[in-house]
Amino acid sequence: MTQTLAIIKPDAVAGGKAGSILAHVEAAGFTVRALRMTRLSVPQAEAFYAVHRGRPFYGSLCRFMTSGPCIPMVLARADAVGQLRRVIGATDPAEAAPGTVRRLYAESKERNAIHASDSDENAEREIAFFFSQAERTELWE
Ligand code: CMP
Repeated sequence: MTQTLAIIKPDAVAGGKAGSILAHVEAAGFTVRALRMTRLSVPQAEAFYAVHRGRPFYGSLCRFMTSGPCIPMVLARADAVGQLRRVIGATDPAEAAPGTVRRLYAESKERNAIHASDSDENAEREIAFFFSQAERTELWE
C-alpha cells in the first residue's frame, strides 16, 4: 500500500461532480484514508503550487483554486501515485484518454476537476500540507 494526495477542485465541487469522482477513484481500487472539504486562502494556494511560481498560468491557477471549496483527500492502494495519474488522465481534458476522470469531468486545462501528486516525494509533502499525522492514522492503526 502506498498513498497519494488528490484534490477534487473547485470546478468539480461547484458542478456537483464530487460524488461521481469519488466513486470513480474508489471503483479504481483506491481506499479513502482522509478527506475534508475546505476553501484555500490565497497564501495557501500560492504555497501549495509554489513549484509553478513564475509560470504564466500561476496567478490564474491560484485564483481558480481559491474560488470555492475543494476536497483534498488521501488515497491508498498499490502504486498509488502512478495509478491515480493513470486514472485521472492528462492535464488537458482534450488530451486525456477516454474514461479518465479529466476526460469525463474537466472543463479545461486549468479547470481540470482533480489534482494528483506526481511523485512519492511530492505525495508525502502534499499529504502533510492538508492532513496531520493524527488525521491520517487514527482510523487505521
Ligand atoms: P494540477 O495537476 O493541479 O497541477 C498544476 C495545475 O496547473 C494543473 O493541474 C492545471 O490546473 C494547471 N495548469 C497546468 N498547465 C496549465 C496551462 N498551460 N494553462 C493553465 N493551467 C495549467
